[in-house]
Amino acid sequence: MSITHSLDTSTSRAHPVPAPMKRLTVPKIQKMKGGEPIVMLTAYTARMAQLLDPHCDLLLVGDSLGQVIYGLPSTVPVTLEMMCAHGAAVVRGSYHAVVAVDMPFGSYEAGPAQAFASAARILKETGAAAVKLEGGEAMAETVAFLTQRGIPVIGHVGLTPQAVNALGGYGARGKTDAEARKIVADAKAVAEAGCFALVLEGVMEEIAVAATKAVACPTIGIGASAQCDGQVLVTEDMLGMFERTPRFVKRYDDLAVRIGDAAAAYAAEVRGRAFPTEEQIYRKPK
Ligand code: KIV
Repeated sequence: MSITHSLDTSTSRAHPVPAPMKRLTVPKIQKMKGGEPIVMLTAYTARMAQLLDPHCDLLLVGDSLGQVIYGLPSTVPVTLEMMCAHGAAVVRGSYHAVVAVDMPFGSYEAGPAQAFASAARILKETGAAAVKLEGGEAMAETVAFLTQRGIPVIGHVGLTPQAVNALGGYGARGKTDAEARKIVADAKAVAEAGCFALVLEGVMEEIAVAATKAVACPTIGIGASAQCDGQVLVTEDMLGMFERTPRFVKRYDDLAVRIGDAAAAYAAEVRGRAFPTEEQIYRKPK
Protein backbone atom coordinates (compact mmCIF):
# COMPACT_ATOMS: atom_id res chain seq x y z
CA MET A 1 0.00 0.00 0.00
CA SER A 2 1.43 3.40 -0.93
CA ILE A 3 1.66 6.12 1.71
CA THR A 4 0.89 9.74 0.84
CA HIS A 5 1.01 12.77 3.11
CA SER A 6 -1.60 15.40 3.91
CA LEU A 7 -0.43 18.77 5.20
CA ASP A 8 -1.95 20.00 8.47
CA THR A 9 -1.75 23.76 8.02
CA SER A 10 -2.21 24.49 11.75
CA THR A 11 0.93 22.59 12.74
CA SER A 12 2.84 22.44 9.40
CA ARG A 13 3.07 18.68 9.90
CA ALA A 14 2.89 16.21 7.07
CA HIS A 15 0.65 13.37 8.24
CA PRO A 16 1.14 9.95 6.67
CA VAL A 17 -2.05 8.67 5.02
CA PRO A 18 -3.25 6.12 6.02
CA ALA A 19 -2.30 7.14 9.58
CA PRO A 20 -0.17 4.49 11.30
CA MET A 21 -2.20 4.81 14.51
CA LYS A 22 -4.84 7.16 15.91
CA ARG A 23 -3.51 9.50 18.61
CA LEU A 24 -4.71 8.85 22.16
CA THR A 25 -6.44 11.67 24.02
CA VAL A 26 -6.29 13.09 27.53
CA PRO A 27 -9.80 11.71 28.44
CA LYS A 28 -8.67 8.24 27.29
CA ILE A 29 -5.61 8.43 29.57
CA GLN A 30 -7.87 9.53 32.46
CA LYS A 31 -10.05 6.46 31.93
CA MET A 32 -7.03 4.15 32.31
CA LYS A 33 -7.16 4.60 36.12
CA GLY A 34 -7.16 1.10 37.66
CA GLY A 35 -7.01 -0.59 34.23
CA GLU A 36 -4.15 -1.60 31.97
CA PRO A 37 -1.01 0.18 33.23
CA ILE A 38 -0.09 3.41 31.42
CA VAL A 39 3.25 3.29 29.58
CA MET A 40 5.16 6.55 29.57
CA LEU A 41 8.74 7.36 28.51
CA THR A 42 10.62 10.59 28.00
CA ALA A 43 11.50 11.80 24.49
CA TYR A 44 13.33 14.94 23.43
CA THR A 45 13.89 14.43 19.70
CA ALA A 46 11.75 13.56 16.67
CA ARG A 47 13.66 10.35 15.90
CA MET A 48 13.42 9.02 19.45
CA ALA A 49 9.71 9.90 19.47
CA GLN A 50 9.22 7.88 16.26
CA LEU A 51 10.86 4.85 17.84
CA LEU A 52 9.02 5.02 21.18
CA ASP A 53 5.60 6.22 20.01
CA PRO A 54 4.06 2.86 18.97
CA HIS A 55 4.84 1.42 22.42
CA CYS A 56 3.76 4.32 24.64
CA ASP A 57 0.51 5.88 25.83
CA LEU A 58 2.26 9.09 26.91
CA LEU A 59 5.51 10.68 25.72
CA LEU A 60 6.95 13.17 28.20
CA VAL A 61 9.22 15.94 26.98
CA GLY A 62 10.82 16.09 30.40
CA ASP A 63 12.96 18.94 31.63
CA SER A 64 15.44 16.14 32.39
CA LEU A 65 16.62 17.10 28.89
CA GLY A 66 18.71 19.68 30.77
CA GLN A 67 21.03 16.94 32.03
CA VAL A 68 20.47 14.34 29.30
CA ILE A 69 20.78 16.54 26.19
CA TYR A 70 22.50 19.72 27.37
CA GLY A 71 24.85 18.38 30.07
CA LEU A 72 23.49 20.84 32.64
CA PRO A 73 23.96 20.10 36.35
CA SER A 74 20.21 20.07 37.11
CA THR A 75 16.84 20.98 35.58
CA VAL A 76 16.95 24.47 37.14
CA PRO A 77 18.62 26.24 34.15
CA VAL A 78 16.21 24.75 31.56
CA THR A 79 14.26 27.42 29.61
CA LEU A 80 10.85 27.66 27.97
CA GLU A 81 12.61 28.03 24.61
CA MET A 82 14.34 24.65 25.07
CA MET A 83 11.07 22.97 26.09
CA CYS A 84 9.20 24.45 23.11
CA ALA A 85 11.87 23.42 20.59
CA HIS A 86 12.07 19.83 21.86
CA GLY A 87 8.31 19.60 22.43
CA ALA A 88 7.65 20.52 18.77
CA ALA A 89 10.19 17.92 17.60
CA VAL A 90 8.53 15.17 19.66
CA VAL A 91 5.06 16.08 18.37
CA ARG A 92 6.41 15.96 14.79
CA GLY A 93 7.84 12.50 15.45
CA SER A 94 4.75 10.94 17.03
CA TYR A 95 1.27 9.92 15.91
CA HIS A 96 -0.10 7.76 18.69
CA ALA A 97 0.91 8.85 22.20
CA VAL A 98 -0.33 11.89 24.09
CA VAL A 99 2.61 14.31 24.24
CA ALA A 100 3.07 16.25 27.49
CA VAL A 101 5.74 18.93 27.95
CA ASP A 102 7.34 19.85 31.28
CA MET A 103 6.97 23.44 32.41
CA PRO A 104 10.53 24.51 33.28
CA PHE A 105 11.57 26.02 36.62
CA GLY A 106 10.66 29.71 36.82
CA SER A 107 7.93 29.56 34.16
CA TYR A 108 4.91 28.95 36.44
CA GLU A 109 5.63 29.33 40.16
CA ALA A 110 4.94 33.09 40.36
CA GLY A 111 1.20 32.53 39.99
CA PRO A 112 -1.66 31.29 37.80
CA ALA A 113 -1.37 34.09 35.23
CA GLN A 114 2.34 33.42 34.64
CA ALA A 115 1.62 29.68 34.44
CA PHE A 116 -1.20 30.23 31.94
CA ALA A 117 1.00 32.38 29.66
CA SER A 118 3.81 29.77 29.72
CA ALA A 119 1.51 26.78 29.25
CA ALA A 120 -0.38 28.47 26.39
CA ARG A 121 2.94 29.20 24.67
CA ILE A 122 4.00 25.56 25.06
CA LEU A 123 0.74 24.24 23.58
CA LYS A 124 0.74 26.78 20.72
CA GLU A 125 4.39 26.32 19.74
CA THR A 126 4.62 22.53 20.12
CA GLY A 127 1.21 21.09 19.31
CA ALA A 128 1.45 19.02 22.51
CA ALA A 129 -1.78 18.15 24.34
CA ALA A 130 -0.69 18.74 27.94
CA VAL A 131 1.85 20.24 30.31
CA LYS A 132 3.38 18.85 33.50
CA LEU A 133 4.34 20.90 36.52
CA GLU A 134 5.96 20.07 39.86
CA GLY A 135 4.49 20.79 43.28
CA GLY A 136 1.64 19.89 45.60
CA GLU A 137 -0.69 21.98 47.74
CA ALA A 138 1.12 25.22 46.81
CA MET A 139 0.37 24.55 43.12
CA ALA A 140 -3.29 23.54 43.48
CA GLU A 141 -4.66 26.99 42.65
CA THR A 142 -2.47 27.14 39.53
CA VAL A 143 -3.54 23.65 38.41
CA ALA A 144 -7.21 24.66 38.82
CA PHE A 145 -6.63 27.89 36.87
CA LEU A 146 -5.02 26.03 33.94
CA THR A 147 -7.42 23.10 33.80
CA GLN A 148 -10.50 25.37 33.98
CA ARG A 149 -9.11 27.19 30.92
CA GLY A 150 -8.60 24.16 28.71
CA ILE A 151 -5.01 23.22 29.54
CA PRO A 152 -4.62 19.58 30.59
CA VAL A 153 -2.10 19.24 33.42
CA ILE A 154 -0.06 16.33 34.78
CA GLY A 155 0.98 16.88 38.40
CA HIS A 156 4.30 15.76 39.89
CA VAL A 157 4.80 15.22 43.63
CA GLY A 158 7.24 13.45 45.97
CA LEU A 159 10.78 14.01 44.76
CA THR A 160 10.49 17.16 42.67
CA PRO A 161 13.88 17.69 40.94
CA GLN A 162 13.33 21.41 40.26
CA ALA A 163 13.42 21.88 44.07
CA VAL A 164 16.86 20.23 44.36
CA ASN A 165 18.34 23.33 46.00
CA ALA A 166 15.68 23.29 48.73
CA LEU A 167 15.66 19.48 49.12
CA GLY A 168 19.47 19.23 49.21
CA GLY A 169 19.65 16.31 46.76
CA TYR A 170 17.72 13.65 44.89
CA GLY A 171 17.12 11.19 47.74
CA ALA A 172 13.77 9.39 48.04
CA ARG A 173 11.08 11.27 49.96
CA GLY A 174 8.64 10.30 52.68
CA LYS A 175 10.91 8.63 55.24
CA THR A 176 9.14 10.28 58.19
CA ASP A 177 5.42 10.00 58.95
CA ALA A 178 4.99 13.76 58.61
CA GLU A 179 6.66 13.83 55.20
CA ALA A 180 4.59 10.82 54.08
CA ARG A 181 1.34 12.55 55.13
CA LYS A 182 2.43 15.73 53.32
CA ILE A 183 3.11 13.85 50.05
CA VAL A 184 -0.32 12.18 50.11
CA ALA A 185 -1.92 15.57 50.90
CA ASP A 186 0.03 17.10 47.97
CA ALA A 187 -1.20 14.34 45.66
CA LYS A 188 -4.82 14.87 46.72
CA ALA A 189 -4.56 18.66 46.39
CA VAL A 190 -3.36 18.70 42.77
CA ALA A 191 -5.60 15.78 41.76
CA GLU A 192 -8.67 17.53 43.20
CA ALA A 193 -7.56 20.75 41.45
CA GLY A 194 -7.97 18.96 38.10
CA CYS A 195 -4.80 17.06 37.08
CA PHE A 196 -5.65 14.33 34.59
CA ALA A 197 -2.64 12.27 35.74
CA LEU A 198 -0.07 12.50 38.49
CA VAL A 199 3.62 11.54 38.53
CA LEU A 200 4.79 10.12 41.87
CA GLU A 201 8.59 10.27 41.95
CA GLY A 202 11.06 8.83 44.45
CA VAL A 203 8.73 7.98 47.34
CA MET A 204 8.48 5.11 49.82
CA GLU A 205 6.28 2.45 48.24
CA GLU A 206 3.50 2.71 50.90
CA ILE A 207 3.09 6.39 50.01
CA ALA A 208 2.69 5.58 46.32
CA VAL A 209 0.06 2.95 47.16
CA ALA A 210 -1.80 5.33 49.52
CA ALA A 211 -1.69 8.20 47.00
CA THR A 212 -2.87 5.93 44.17
CA LYS A 213 -5.89 4.91 46.29
CA ALA A 214 -6.54 8.49 47.41
CA VAL A 215 -6.76 10.21 44.02
CA ALA A 216 -9.27 9.85 41.19
CA CYS A 217 -6.73 10.37 38.39
CA PRO A 218 -4.15 7.78 37.27
CA THR A 219 -0.80 7.86 39.08
CA ILE A 220 2.39 7.27 37.13
CA GLY A 221 5.30 6.03 39.20
CA ILE A 222 9.04 6.54 38.89
CA GLY A 223 10.82 5.08 41.90
CA ALA A 224 7.38 4.57 43.45
CA SER A 225 5.39 1.30 43.17
CA ALA A 226 4.23 -1.32 40.67
CA GLN A 227 0.74 -0.58 42.04
CA CYS A 228 0.71 2.88 40.44
CA ASP A 229 -1.60 3.18 37.43
CA GLY A 230 1.42 3.51 35.12
CA GLN A 231 5.20 3.88 35.01
CA VAL A 232 7.62 6.39 33.52
CA LEU A 233 11.40 6.30 33.06
CA VAL A 234 13.92 8.59 31.44
CA THR A 235 14.52 6.75 28.16
CA GLU A 236 18.30 7.25 28.15
CA ASP A 237 18.46 5.74 31.67
CA MET A 238 16.58 2.60 30.69
CA LEU A 239 18.62 2.28 27.49
CA GLY A 240 21.84 2.27 29.54
CA MET A 241 23.27 5.51 28.11
CA PHE A 242 24.85 6.51 31.44
CA GLU A 243 27.34 4.76 33.69
CA ARG A 244 25.38 5.55 36.85
CA THR A 245 21.95 4.02 37.15
CA PRO A 246 19.68 5.19 39.97
CA ARG A 247 18.15 2.36 42.05
CA PHE A 248 14.68 2.84 40.54
CA VAL A 249 15.90 2.41 36.94
CA LYS A 250 15.96 -0.93 35.18
CA ARG A 251 18.45 -1.02 32.28
CA TYR A 252 16.83 -2.66 29.26
CA ASP A 253 19.97 -2.22 27.12
CA ASP A 254 23.59 -1.16 27.33
CA LEU A 255 23.61 1.44 24.55
CA ALA A 256 26.59 3.40 25.92
CA VAL A 257 28.80 0.34 25.51
CA ARG A 258 27.36 -0.46 22.07
CA ILE A 259 27.86 3.14 20.83
CA GLY A 260 31.43 3.16 22.16
CA ASP A 261 32.14 -0.17 20.39
CA ALA A 262 30.66 1.13 17.10
CA ALA A 263 32.71 4.36 17.32
CA ALA A 264 35.87 2.37 18.06
CA ALA A 265 35.26 0.06 15.05
CA TYR A 266 34.68 3.10 12.79
CA ALA A 267 37.82 4.86 14.08
CA ALA A 268 39.94 1.75 13.49
CA GLU A 269 38.65 1.36 9.91
CA VAL A 270 39.17 5.06 9.09
CA ARG A 271 42.73 4.94 10.46
CA GLY A 272 43.44 1.69 8.60
CA ARG A 273 41.90 3.04 5.34
CA ALA A 274 39.41 0.16 5.46
CA PHE A 275 36.48 2.60 5.21
CA PRO A 276 35.05 3.62 2.80
CA THR A 277 35.10 0.56 0.52
CA GLU A 278 33.84 0.15 -3.09
CA GLU A 279 30.31 -0.16 -1.65
CA GLN A 280 30.28 3.34 -0.15
CA ILE A 281 31.91 5.40 -2.93
CA TYR A 282 30.58 6.89 -6.19
CA ARG A 283 32.08 6.12 -9.62
CA LYS A 284 31.18 7.63 -12.96
CA PRO A 285 29.04 5.18 -14.96
CA LYS A 286 31.17 3.43 -17.61
O1 KIV B 1 11.86 15.53 33.56
C1 KIV B 1 11.54 14.33 33.54
O2 KIV B 1 12.04 13.52 32.75
C2 KIV B 1 10.53 13.89 34.51
C3 KIV B 1 10.30 12.42 34.65
C4 KIV B 1 11.45 11.79 35.32
C5 KIV B 1 9.01 12.12 35.34
O3 KIV B 1 9.93 14.69 35.14
